[in-house]
Amino acid sequence: MSKLSTTTWPKRHRQTFNQLADFMNQYNIKSPTVLEVGPGATSSLLKNLLASGEGEDLSFWANRLRAFLRNVDSLIRHIPFVDLHSFEPGELLDVLPADARLIVSDINPRVIKAIAKQYPQADARVIDFADSPMKEPVDIIVCLCVIVRTSAPKTIFKNLYDSLKPGGLFVIDNRSITNFSDSFCVMERLAPQIWRKTGNS
Ligand SMILES: C[S@@+](CC[C@H](N)C(=O)[O-])C[C@H]1O[C@@H](n2cnc3c(N)ncnc32)[C@H](O)[C@@H]1O
Repeated sequence: MSKLSTTTWPKRHRQTFNQLADFMNQYNIKSPTVLEVGPGATSSLLKNLLASGEGEDLSFWANRLRAFLRNVDSLIRHIPFVDLHSFEPGELLDVLPADARLIVSDINPRVIKAIAKQYPQADARVIDFADSPMKEPVDIIVCLCVIVRTSAPKTIFKNLYDSLKPGGLFVIDNRSITNFSDSFCVMERLAPQIWRKTGNS
């Protein structure tokens, strides 16, 4: 069983997802196939407490409580029979067109099981991108705060880059781009965490 390093919280990438919607319009990307990699999950037990007040200006003590809850959550979600809840696919679906196809992948079967139950409209799969790229390249890849935590980051970065169509959008955290992209990678930066593949292969 893979380690459950799923640290995440609700609305973590809200601003980035709103920007993604703008760039889909700008580049006229219609009916996209979207691959989300490593959405993470919280425990179902704490999901409401973690979501409450998120995105609002909180007092010092409310913020301390929030940090404490995240730590408690990171302990209890390791208990095998605790159900998980994944926020990120739903927040992504909120900004995608209704006819988008969403593939959600994670290396952890418990995360994928939770996602298959929560989002039956998504194609949820256990995939380890250390093995190979997607057979069919996709229009958009969302992979935030994942690659830096893997044991084969360069291989995974290359396999994801190869899974993206030319002209496709890559939503990825800055640490992954800075540390693991290489000369094969031809992309233009559209926003702090959004890139467009300009290379032909
Ligand atoms: C830190 S969480 C990131 C959660 C979320 N994307 C965020 O930004 O809040 C990392 C997630 O990546 C998954 N993961 C780790 N290695 C992976 C791999 N090789 N392929 C796919 N997912 C992986 C973990 O199981 C976990 O769900």
